Amino acid sequence: MVAFTARAHTNIALLKYWGKADQKLIIPTTTSISLTLNEFYTETTVEFNDDLANDQITLDHQPLKAKDQKKIINFLDLIRAQANINTYAKVESFNHVPTAAGLASSASAFAALAGASAAAAGLDLTPADLSRLARQGSGSASRSIFGGFVQWDRGTDHQTSVAHPLQEQVDWPIQLLTVIVSDQPKKINSRGGMQNAMQNSPFYQSWVERSNALVKPMQTAINQHDLATLGKIAEQNALEMHAQNMVANPPFFYLTDISWKIINLVQELRENGLKVYATMDAGPNVKIISHPDDTEKIEDALHTILPEITIQVATPGPGLKIWQNGATHA
Ligand code: ADP
Ligand code: DP6
Ligand code: CO
Repeated sequence: MVAFTARAHTNIALLKYWGKADQKLIIPTTTSISLTLNEFYTETTVEFNDDLANDQITLDHQPLKAKDQKKIINFLDLIRAQANINTYAKVESFNHVPTAAGLASSASAFAALAGASAAAAGLDLTPADLSRLARQGSGSASRSIFGGFVQWDRGTDHQTSVAHPLQEQVDWPIQLLTVIVSDQPKKINSRGGMQNAMQNSPFYQSWVERSNALVKPMQTAINQHDLATLGKIAEQNALEMHAQNMVANPPFFYLTDISWKIINLVQELRENGLKVYATMDAGPNVKIISHPDDTEKIEDALHTILPEITIQVATPGPGLKIWQNGATHA
């Protein structure tokens, strides 16, 4: 059968997904909203081949760890069931984003895998179908099917828990200035962390209610190109997500002393009149929601307190692309 390659970009949530109502199907407890990023992505090639005696999976030319491999095999099983085939697959993936560092590699990885494996198995799926499929690999991947601002509706079942674009073409100035505190794999993965918070935070229900109440105001901010309101809501929601982890029993932290230094600096810059807001995921890296015209000022301020820190500017990016054969590893 023919090999297909797909490219999917990562996305960073402005309203976070942090907990599952259904762990097997990956139905979230809240509706989330994200921005797909141009600079970070995964490219994956899949070929189902009758000559294979098992699934062969590599990431950046290396075989995956057994646990990580299992997630991909389970995902391929979903495809095989849907396509009514029992052929094994060769999967070659390349991350243009640090893996498991809180920069959403699982989002781009499972969106790319969904696109490439569905095409390679001969399935003709709509973007919404691909979003539902990707969701079952990693929740955040449901949003990486689409470009720009994307909403993943919490939904109540497999059909209704799906992402859709809010604004695919982002033609107004917004960027995520990504401060790389660490590109090393986190100790507690997103899956374990959110489960922990859900079971062990005394305020979890309040997180769900407050987060869902922010959906409409966030949509309005996006529609109105209102960077200040968008940033303010996103920062509040991110801090509330991390608060769940800090009050869990036992508590756990993704943010390090360096992350907090950056968060403090963002507040200081804001007091000085800049429209800058911080959002953090399951890892120590801080993304600064900002106006492209302010890049130099922010970078200078960061380098004053952290001379060695790596900064990468991330801008709004496109949705999933799928093509037959001839992978280009840009
Ligand atoms: P992140 O913040 O990077 O999304 P997660 O804990 O959510 O971190 O997911 C990281 C996991 O996603 C990895 O340990 C691995 O299992 C999986 N993953 C990431 N990229 C790929 C890829 N290109 N191919 C297969 N699996 C991947
Ligand atoms: C903090 O989608 O990585 O980045 O569904 O268990 O694979 P699984 O988790 P994942 O969780 C993402 C958590 C987050 C917030 C977000 O992206 O919405
Ligand atoms: Co992830």
